[in-house]
Amino acid sequence: MKKALITGITGQDGSYLAELLLEKGYKVYGLKRRNSTPNYENINHLMDEIEIISGDLLDLPSLINAIKISDPDEVYNLGAQSFVTSSWHQSIYTGQATGIGVTNMLEAIMLTKPETRFYQASSSEMFGKVLEIPQKETTPFYPRSPYAVAKVYGHWITVNYRESYNLYACSGILFNHESPRRGIEFVTRKVTDAVARIKLGLQKELHLGNLDAKRDWGYAGDYVKAMWLMLQQPKPDDYVIATGKTYSVKELVETAFEYVGLDWKTYVVQDSKLIRPAEVDLLLGSPQKAQEKLGWKPQVSFEQLIHMMIESDLKKISATL
Ligand code: NAP
Ligand code: GDD
Repeated sequence: MKKALITGITGQDGSYLAELLLEKGYKVYGLKRRNSTPNYENINHLMDEIEIISGDLLDLPSLINAIKISDPDEVYNLGAQSFVTSSWHQSIYTGQATGIGVTNMLEAIMLTKPETRFYQASSSEMFGKVLEIPQKETTPFYPRSPYAVAKVYGHWITVNYRESYNLYACSGILFNHESPRRGIEFVTRKVTDAVARIKLGLQKELHLGNLDAKRDWGYAGDYVKAMWLMLQQPKPDDYVIATGKTYSVKELVETAFEYVGLDWKTYVVQDSKLIRPAEVDLLLGSPQKAQEKLGWKPQVSFEQLIHMMIESDLKKISATL
């Protein structure tokens, strides 16, 4: 039986990846930091099948301990301060958790079990003020937030440990991916939650920032398959994971309100407080390498994704009424 350790198991991707690995017969361990109030919402349904290990990406001894307990074949480093806006308010913490945390995890592997295969959750945010359209593995980075700067560090330290120590380490450069388990502060979920509340008569307005930004949005359930595929190859490498299609925030809003038969213009308020100090205007990825080398293809379309999220929010909110 293969064993995997997932950091960030309580997050969106951690929960989908845990499901996938359990289906594949893995023994799954999840690193979880202590919170004053436990946040098991995304993994409650898996608690009998996975083993939680207490630890934090900022605390090397806890990571060494996690490797010793789990004795993993594969480590998926998904833990991070992942909200771009918060990275301006907590720039040093973001640098530590999202950047240095990667080195901590790599060091824990090197010191304890260097034959472990390692996946780093890199991000299309690294392309920032894009220097090429579409973005691919060879496109230079131009990060536009403390979060993106920290991810660039995490990406290169992963490449560096692969080249320095011959570690099987991969960096997945994933474009935005969403699901009903997406955190509420991210724009897709903020919109689908608001649309459900407005439809149910519980909310009147939706405040948003920049409606012109464009993103290449896919489904998280599809994207975790790519993470696993990267660690099954003969050689470690880096891959862009994207749909190859891009939509504006305005198109997202239109699609969501249209689904419940409402006109978005009646409800959406543009709020200057939600505009970022520096914006990433356009993300559009090329999944060509992943298609050719991993045989990976996204299955869920943008419209299907937004509809799935609205249905889930309608159900969740209705259940509380
Ligand atoms: P998420 O829902 O925000 O989950 C982040 C996870 O990291 C949570 O489990 C969180 O724990 C954990 N975490 C935060 N700080 C930690 C620390 N110091 N030590 C240990 N764990 C810590 O993020 P996601 O959407 O699943 O994304 C997973 C990873 O992929 C992240 O690294 C993200 O930056 C990256 N990424 C995401 C996307 C995307 O579109 N979703 C695209 C590219 C890259 P708590 O529950 O305790 O907060
Ligand atoms: N969150 C948010 N809230 N975003 C808004 C809002 C709002 O009210 N109004 C407009 N936006 C715009 C943002 O300015 C941004 O251009 C876009 O919507 C997407 O914002 P997010 O959903 O917060 O995602 P992100 O693209 O900044 O970052 C996500 O994707 C990255 C991959 O490209 C996160 O998941 C990162 O962790 C991930 O690396």
